[in-house]
Amino acid sequence: MPNRTNAMTRKLRIVVVGAGTGVGKTHVGCALAAELVRRGVVLEARKPIESGYLPEGSDADLLARSAGHNLLTPRYAFDEAVSPHLAARHAGLAVELAEVVSWCATSGDLLVETAGGLLSPVSATCTNLDIAAALEPSAIVLVAVNRLGALHDVRVCQLALGERGLSAQVVLCHPEAADAGTPSNVAELAFLGWAPGAIAFPRAPLGDARTHMSATLLADALERRR
Ligand SMILES: Nc1ncnc2c1ncn2[C@@H]1O[C@H](COP(=O)(O)OP(=O)(O)OP(=O)(O)O)[C@@H](O)[C@H]1O
Ligand SMILES: [Mg+2]
Repeated sequence: MPNRTNAMTRKLRIVVVGAGTGVGKTHVGCALAAELVRRGVVLEARKPIESGYLPEGSDADLLARSAGHNLLTPRYAFDEAVSPHLAARHAGLAVELAEVVSWCATSGDLLVETAGGLLSPVSATCTNLDIAAALEPSAIVLVAVNRLGALHDVRVCQLALGERGLSAQVVLCHPEAADAGTPSNVAELAFLGWAPGAIAFPRAPLGDARTHMSATLLADALERRR
């Protein structure tokens, strides 16, 4: 039986992954970071790899602001807004998994946002799944868009994570325009037994009370998973 006391005192190493790019990882990561800080956690929120990088308003910048610390420039920050593996290749670089892991190393509590989707390549030999596994996360948050196809998107990621012995807390982010899948996806993930505790985030700004409510539910869910 897991030692509950050890689990509760273990440092947070939350890795935010996506069922795709642009699905709401930064939005959810920022909301969660702000909620954890509100609960007294001293959190470092990092984005080790970012393409299309401009410091102001970057994912790294938004995460740092939400966690209440200075911007940590990504270890691999690429100007070009293409897949990180391609941006790196064009820059004459290769993303090294060991380098990402050592850049993320901290003795404190940590939240890491990956770049793109779970299986997006960051080099010819490494995907975000490899990064998530190598970071030995205390929790993984899987973000998908709450639209038709979300059941598939979530399931594919769950199966990929499961191959590495990993599981994730599922979050569905409300799309700009709801579709026929939006109202039922959370309930269907439970019905199918795939993600009984999936959490819906509304389409609302970070500071909105509805976003805060979802972030509270997410932080509570992660606490229960420890
Ligand atoms: N629930 C939401 N409510 C309001 N806006 C949202 C929500 N989810 C995402 N967005 C907006 O949609 C856009 C894409 O979201 P976000 O940047 O969080 O995605 P991402 O998965 O981090 O993307 P990337 O793969 O580029 O890192 C952003 O402008 C973000 O503010
Ligand atoms: Mg992002």
